[in-house]
Amino acid sequence: MEPEIIRPVILAVDDEPSMGESYKMLLEEKYSLFYASTGHEALEIVQKEPVNLVLLDVLLPDMDGMDILRRIKEISDADVIMVSAVKTMRTAIQAVKLGAYDYVSKPFDIDDLLATVGKAIENQNLKKEIVYLKSSLPSAQGERMVGSSEGIRRVFSLISEVCNTQSTVLITGESGTGKELIARAVHFSGYRKDKPFVAVDCATIPENLVESELFGHEKGAFTDATSQKIGKFELANGGTLFLDEIGNLHQDIQSKILRVLEVREIQRVGGTKTIKIDVRVISATNIDLKKAVKDGKFRQDLYYRLNVFPVYAPALRERKEDVPLLINHFISIYNRQFGKDIHGVSKEAMELLVNYSWPGNIRELRNVIERLVVLSKEDIISHKRLPLDILFPDEDKGGDMDNKALLKEARYEFEKRFILKVLERANWNQTKAAQLLGIHRNALLQKINIFKLRPFIDHAKSGQSKD
Ligand SMILES: Nc1ncnc2c1ncn2[C@@H]1O[C@H](COP(=O)(O)OP(=O)(O)OP(=O)(O)O)[C@@H](O)[C@H]1O
Ligand SMILES: [Mg+2]
Repeated sequence: MEPEIIRPVILAVDDEPSMGESYKMLLEEKYSLFYASTGHEALEIVQKEPVNLVLLDVLLPDMDGMDILRRIKEISDADVIMVSAVKTMRTAIQAVKLGAYDYVSKPFDIDDLLATVGKAIENQNLKKEIVYLKSSLPSAQGERMVGSSEGIRRVFSLISEVCNTQSTVLITGESGTGKELIARAVHFSGYRKDKPFVAVDCATIPENLVESELFGHEKGAFTDATSQKIGKFELANGGTLFLDEIGNLHQDIQSKILRVLEVREIQRVGGTKTIKIDVRVISATNIDLKKAVKDGKFRQDLYYRLNVFPVYAPALRERKEDVPLLINHFISIYNRQFGKDIHGVSKEAMELLVNYSWPGNIRELRNVIERLVVLSKEDIISHKRLPLDILFPDEDKGGDMDNKALLKEARYEFEKRFILKVLERANWNQTKAAQLLGIHRNALLQKINIFKLRPFIDHAKSGQSKD
């Protein structure tokens, strides 16, 4: 089975069969190719298939190249590269003015063609959300991975490289960056996808039970072992075992896992039989394992055994361009879940969300969006509904303490004077002033107390006492 990573789709349109051959030779390795020899055929394919790029001969038997370009632009957002012999070069150049992405001359220079195609595809990737589709998965696991940043694209391509191999994979990255989703993607895109995917959270199993959890036990193996238990390695046989938070394992267990990975067989606790297993191990950690090795907390040999194929899940703040895609993705998930019809977030809200540092990464973003979708009464989520952390990012982080203190003071002074002004304009009618300020009267009373505001004569006194 092919991995389900979507390859860019190119449609080559030319009426000369030899051109079709050349395209095949040059492009088939990296791209999915369609061919058409007439304009009508080309339009039909563009309509039906998710074409990213069209290589369009300027001179076709049935339609004018410019017309085809125009129609393609109407029905899809594929980019078009005009392919033109010298005598039609002017048309090709004109086509670029009308929205073609670029042009190449025919017969083409191979490097030139490949570079132009590569650039156009890159451009498409930037424009479009790259979706890692796992449509054949049962719905419980049918979650999509979304993103178009360079960081996540690297992850996508690593997944497609490793999914059909036996290699152990080590996924590293901060909490909430999608490590488990990556592990699932590796499993469900590879040849083991119809076999079990078994996840073990090494951080939450009590230390004395880890061994029996992983390898199983025979009845009577220890006091509480009232019946036989099949361990996770055995359950995962033929499929994938996902060892989450691997950094938390005790040294003892580390050696046992190392041995299992080397000999590919296990023994249940209290048992004597050896059981052959065929399991691909994927592990994940959010600690620096290399450092743990240096500090003597993690076995070096196990580290090398697990880290055959490393995948780094980048933090969300390292790939801000994915934030809008993820927001829309989660909005549509929660629209479905809560029967809502939210269209998106406002421009101000988007700016704040993109610039926030997301210490909890995608998990935090997901939770924020869930809350916003549930609470929002408007179609477009306003920035006013954002959690305070995001609305007023903490200046502590990396900020200069002096500046922070200054800002606080400036804010205090400004707010005090502003409220005083409004109160004076409202002749100290508190209800009216609260209305003018757009806050509740109680909130205004609180401010009056905090700032010790009084009508003018009194105020002069309170001002003195404060300064
Ligand atoms: N690229 C992505 N596209 C869509 N959703 C994502 C993506 N990456 C992560 N998520 C979602 O973010 C949440 C956190 O992901 P996941 O549990 O895989 O992270 P993790 O790295 O294992 O976190 P932790 O270290 O806390 O266990 C999940 O709800 C997951 O579905
Ligand atoms: Mg996890």
